[in-house]
Amino acid sequence: MKILVAGGAGYIGSVLVPELIERGYDVDVIDLLWFGNYLPPTSKVVQKDLFKCNEQDIKQYDQIIFLAGLSNDPMAEFDPSKNFVFNAALPSYVAFIAKQVGVKRFIYASSCSVYGYTVNELYDEDSPVTCGYPYGISKLQGERGVMQLHDKNFSVIALRQGTVCGYSPRMRMDLIVNAMFKSAMTGKKITVDNPSIWRPILDIRDATTAYLRAIQADSSLSGIYNVASGNYTVGQVGDMVKYEIEKLTGEKITITINNKQDFRNYKVAVDRAKTYLGFQSQYAVEDIIDDLYRHKELFGDYEKDEYYNIRVFRKLTG
Ligand SMILES: NC(=O)c1ccc[n+]([C@@H]2O[C@H](COP(=O)([O-])OP(=O)(O)OC[C@H]3O[C@@H](n4cnc5c(N)ncnc54)[C@H](O)[C@@H]3O)[C@@H](O)[C@H]2O)c1
Repeated sequence: MKILVAGGAGYIGSVLVPELIERGYDVDVIDLLWFGNYLPPTSKVVQKDLFKCNEQDIKQYDQIIFLAGLSNDPMAEFDPSKNFVFNAALPSYVAFIAKQVGVKRFIYASSCSVYGYTVNELYDEDSPVTCGYPYGISKLQGERGVMQLHDKNFSVIALRQGTVCGYSPRMRMDLIVNAMFKSAMTGKKITVDNPSIWRPILDIRDATTAYLRAIQADSSLSGIYNVASGNYTVGQVGDMVKYEIEKLTGEKITITINNKQDFRNYKVAVDRAKTYLGFQSQYAVEDIIDDLYRHKELFGDYEKDEYYNIRVFRKLTG
């Protein structure tokens, strides 16, 4: 099966693409390489803007996994117009031409950030989406644009991912568990901005499994699916990072609690992904910390600009 991973040189793609290749899929990546290229040297990677792709570039694929665009709130707030164009228009455009040329399935990297601010409720895919900030709105628009195209010959699967964390060869330190891990390792302290808010966390290895399940799902299946390894409060994540790093290093880690407002607060049900995709998470926050710890020699300097999307993006567009 021939698969295009659009935006496949990013954080998620750098774990997913080697796994797909290992499983015998014929994979091409199209990516602007904003953060470099850490894919295995044998990977087929084309540095190109997906907006410049036409039917000729797309028609050879059986499936497309769309991981491109701006991938967090700071980037979206720094350049809202680019955010709406790259996150809402781009996936709709790529899915549109994919359908025209007979691609069978389009898998979209959506986000639980579409849910916005909820209180004490477990949200499923039919719950209201109340986000009011650029990143969440743009991911919702992208999702709606691609879902609009599904029919019996064109399957569209949107994976509403929790915050993806863990080790990737293209590392990000701006994701909750990774960021706390970094500050525990480098400064022996963790700052918890608001301990009571909820976040679904998705181990990057579970994220890879979710994409595999989507690729392999029956061709008639389309739909939106929450995917997470578990729901945690930010306070809970801080405590887990503290406990694990103290255990691993034997050093004392202190926690500072702030009570900053946050515009995101949600926990999600993943039953639909279990029932329809056969998605079963295998990891918890403790496993993410252990995984980061095992790979720590590979990070080098934790402060490298490329580990922080907003720093690279500011340089690219500023
Ligand atoms: N990482 C998370 O926690 C998370 C959670 C939910 C959803 N998502 C979504 O998953 C996707 C992947 O996330 P990530 O963490 O791997 O992001 P990332 O920022 O590491 O990677 C995105 C990649 O897309 C490429 N790209 C951007 N615009 C492009 C364009 N026009 N043409 C070609 N390439 C382009 C970039 O060069 C980059 O390599 C994103 O769409 C993000 O919104 C991520």
